[in-house]
Amino acid sequence: MAGSGTAHMRPDVGPVLSVDQMVVEFPVGRKQVVHAVSGLNIDLLPGETLGILGESGCGKSSAGRAVMQEPPPTSGSVRLGTTELTGLKTRDLRRARSRMQMIMQDPVSSLNPRRKVRDLVAEGLAIWGFDGADKDAAIRETLVAVGLDPDVVWDRRPHELSGGQCQRVCIARALMMNPEVLICDEPVSALDVSVQAQILNLLERTKETYDLSMIFIAHDVSVVKNISDRVMVLYLGKTCEVLPSANLQTAARHPYTRTLIASIPGGEEIAPADVSLSAASTELPSPLNPPSGCRFRTRCPLATDQCAAEEPELRPVGEGHFIACHNVAV
Ligand SMILES: Nc1ncnc2c1ncn2[C@@H]1O[C@H](COP(=O)(O)OP(=O)(O)O)[C@@H](O)[C@H]1O
Ligand code: SF4
Ligand SMILES: [Mg+2]
Repeated sequence: MAGSGTAHMRPDVGPVLSVDQMVVEFPVGRKQVVHAVSGLNIDLLPGETLGILGESGCGKSSAGRAVMQEPPPTSGSVRLGTTELTGLKTRDLRRARSRMQMIMQDPVSSLNPRRKVRDLVAEGLAIWGFDGADKDAAIRETLVAVGLDPDVVWDRRPHELSGGQCQRVCIARALMMNPEVLICDEPVSALDVSVQAQILNLLERTKETYDLSMIFIAHDVSVVKNISDRVMVLYLGKTCEVLPSANLQTAARHPYTRTLIASIPGGEEIAPADVSLSAASTELPSPLNPPSGCRFRTRCPLATDQCAAEEPELRPVGEGHFIACHNVAV
């Protein structure tokens, strides 16, 4: 997959993370299976931010967790540089995985309420046996980097901090591991609107300072567009469209992406009503029994008989632009 060619990206170097045909399924009861992610491919380039966009229930978090091997995917490959993560034994996996860190949606519940900030930030270092005076200095430095005053927060516990401060602690904790890849799963969705922009700015700055590549998961088109170089749109565990985020609103052509754009304020003008969801079909179908052919067909205003019979393949339609739809011309 080609990148958008943004200046800080290095598309000539190989991908820092490669996900190939990743499937995530959850057995429920004796016979049923939730098809959360069905054959996902990702090439994350060094220095790139890839946005993953889709409404709630589309498999974004399952994909992010499976990349982290928490839990590992049902099948498929996840390579960090040249290291294949699937199938690694616990100790090797823990070490390899530390090169990748995840920031979750709810910062408060992802922190142990009994531990103090200084211990929370250093928690992951145990796998390296890193200790002593150097450790405290590194914690202080990282707290400053995420905009927290070490003298103020050092002995505080999560309930003594705001949601935004807790998310800063989570970011500090991730940075302490010196990762190459940061996976942010809706990192601002649980925060007050007033602090969302601060955390997004912090993530952008951090990415540059620490030379990270980032996967940024969200359901909000405007958030994903602003922070990402490229956007991947997921629907019921499958990729519908991948495109550079510059001109996302006008360049997006997949009917599902167009409906997402139409749902943001002012978006109706860019994505007119012919591609918005009909009132009768706004429910996401169950991932227990996804529609045949194109998974979006039960809600798609352009669906034809072919859409029920044949699954559309992801194919190139322009520079760095890929679409899975039978009815979008190349
Ligand atoms: N541990 C699990 N067991 C069973 N079903 C799950 C589990 N985790 C997620 N799911 C289901 O997988 C689908 C995708 O969920 P999720 O990955 O959380 O989507 P998103 O993050 O896009 O909202 C949903 O139908 C959800 O209910
Ligand atoms: S393949 Fe058919 S159902 Fe799927 S998005 Fe395209 S037109 Fe709609
Ligand atoms: Mg989620």
